[in-house]
Amino acid sequence: MPQPIRKLDQRSDGVDDDHLSLRDFQRIADLIGEEVGIKLPPAKRLMVEGRLRKRVRALGLRGLDAYSVHLFQRDGLAAELPHLIDAVTTNKTDFFREPEHFDLLEHRLVPALLDLRRGERQPLLKIWSAASSTGAEAYTLAMVLADLAAQRHDFRFAILGTDISNTVLRQGVRAVYPTELVAPVPPAKQQRYLMHARRPGTRPEVRIVPELRRLVRFAHLNLMDAAYPFDRDVDVIFLRNVLIYFEKADQERVIRRLIDHLRPGGYLILGHSESMIGTAVAMRQIAPSVFQKT
Ligand SMILES: C[S@@+](CC[C@H](N)C(=O)[O-])C[C@H]1O[C@@H](n2cnc3c(N)ncnc32)[C@H](O)[C@@H]1O
Repeated sequence: MPQPIRKLDQRSDGVDDDHLSLRDFQRIADLIGEEVGIKLPPAKRLMVEGRLRKRVRALGLRGLDAYSVHLFQRDGLAAELPHLIDAVTTNKTDFFREPEHFDLLEHRLVPALLDLRRGERQPLLKIWSAASSTGAEAYTLAMVLADLAAQRHDFRFAILGTDISNTVLRQGVRAVYPTELVAPVPPAKQQRYLMHARRPGTRPEVRIVPELRRLVRFAHLNLMDAAYPFDRDVDVIFLRNVLIYFEKADQERVIRRLIDHLRPGGYLILGHSESMIGTAVAMRQIAPSVFQKT
């Protein structure tokens, strides 16, 4: 008879001890809810366990129970929290994700914003990717705006990407991506803005050209913070695919704080699945999931 397959973390006596107790899971869920705003209902326990096992191995711990002790020991939390945040956040992103927003930016929002600033010579448009993950959204914005600026010659732009995870922010600064991730970038933009790495034996990668990297800055920001230390004359804020992880009250607080950073006439863009959240605050909806500060 074939032997049943035993997972590596399963004890030989058949008792699988590499789990978080319900109590430890709840402590972690409460901590993440408070610090990051992300909801972790009991149904997420398996996912959290799976992601934390990598951390258990990196720390050389015996299992998830030992991890909980490590996390909640005196002085343990401050050092471990950034890793825990990396483990529980979902960083999925893409170049040209939800592409209608970039078309709208190019054809409608930028012309309208420049119209409002008619008297100024080459105004500086400020764009903020407020949950930037590894930077695919920020560099998509940079590609679209660089092409437009080269056609119109009547504006400059600067892009800020912020996120709570230092790991993804470092990737944004490095600006190196697996080739398959840039597949949605139109060929002409690929030619202008991507450099191909030629390192034998490694998976094919591309890097964003320095001229574009210079226009994008990354900084750490927890959207749960009571105040955001950034400019208050931003033209467009992209806040896509992050609110879904937050409680309703936090969603509205985050939106209100971000609106304070928009100049009048500026735009807030949410993910398509988050459009309804935007309708709770007093802004003019101009397209699905796109709102204008009046
Ligand atoms: C799914 S990604 C979305 C990336 C990009 N906006 C997009 O739509 O492709 C969500 C990002 O939100 C970040 N995030 C989660 N909670 C956050 C918080 N409290 N403050 C700032 N960023 C947060 C995560 O680290 C993650 O990189």
